[in-house]
Amino acid sequence: MIKAAITAVSAYLPEYVLTNKELETMVDTTDEWITSRSGIKERRILRDKDKATAFMATEAAKSLLKKRNIAATELDLIIVATVTPDYQYPATANIVGDAIGAGDVWGFDVQAACSSFIYALETGARYIESGRYKKVMVIGADKMSSIIDYTDRNTCVLFGDGAGAVLLEPSTDETGIIDCKMYSDGSGRKSLFQKAGGSLHPSTAETVANREHFVTMDGQSVFKIAVIKMADVAEEMMQRNKLSSEDVAWLVPHQANKRIIDATAHRMGISTDKVMLNIQRYGNTTSATLPLCLYEWESQLKKGDNLILTTFGAGFTWGAIYIKWSY
Ligand code: ACO
Repeated sequence: MIKAAITAVSAYLPEYVLTNKELETMVDTTDEWITSRSGIKERRILRDKDKATAFMATEAAKSLLKKRNIAATELDLIIVATVTPDYQYPATANIVGDAIGAGDVWGFDVQAACSSFIYALETGARYIESGRYKKVMVIGADKMSSIIDYTDRNTCVLFGDGAGAVLLEPSTDETGIIDCKMYSDGSGRKSLFQKAGGSLHPSTAETVANREHFVTMDGQSVFKIAVIKMADVAEEMMQRNKLSSEDVAWLVPHQANKRIIDATAHRMGISTDKVMLNIQRYGNTTSATLPLCLYEWESQLKKGDNLILTTFGAGFTWGAIYIKWSY
């Protein structure tokens, strides 16, 4: 069977750094509270009003092409994972395809809240495995600052902006994406959602006045289930692939809360030096957290390393992917 391999990784981060100190001047919070409850110290914000998710995704895509030394026209498919598309439609993937000069390339978006990237990666891998597609770009990008209420201390301290991208190609050996397990449970949808702007509550002067276009979250109930489900699925991935904690080179967890990540690593029996953690610098960038981790740790990865990627997000959605690193 053809396996999909990640053959290059890239990222884009906006320059502006929003620190906990600055947030102290905006809402009733403290650096101590944010750090101890979430592990976050600062996050990046894309402040340009005329730039959004497609811009960051495009920057990540351009550097990916350069790194792999291929032309945009060689791409068969672009999948953008995002909860903050530039528009309801067209898809952000279409905008990126045009911006990088990929011609009539096929592309679409995938949305599964904080699990968007892992859902998109599994989707892209399946196209490679089919044998029909040779180069699939999977981008995770979010301008979370566009849907965050900076008067709501429950949410504004947690999120940041950013983008990361990977290229999928057919593996030439035993490495690549080995296994994947995804879940969702819509009964938890009201614990973390954006109330207005969809077809149920279209945008009106009232929805804007009621601040219903921002992220609404019952943090505690999300935390309670996230801490169990992310660890459950990571453990399941190890068990069904007969991986011991020594076999796992890296845990690549979604960066929503350091305490959720610690609990997952603990359940897997993995020491902290094998956990990719950059939440302190970027916060929760939603669809971008996992490719941003891969990008930052790329130089430390070795061919054949076993990586477990795992996530939990609104929906609820969660899942894990087992990758044998290819380069
Ligand atoms: N600064 C100071 N106090 C705060 C802040 C803040 N920024 N935010 C909340 N508080 C207060 C609360 O109002 C509450 O006060 P009260 O007891 O007087 O009511 C108190 O702090 C404790 O709040 P908790 O909710 O119990 O704090 P907790 O320890 O649960 O941490 C957090 C909150 C960080 C939000 C945590 O619950 C969490 O990480 N939840 C999960 C988030 C997540 O995983 N999201 C999924 C991915 S996101 C996606 O899919 C888009």
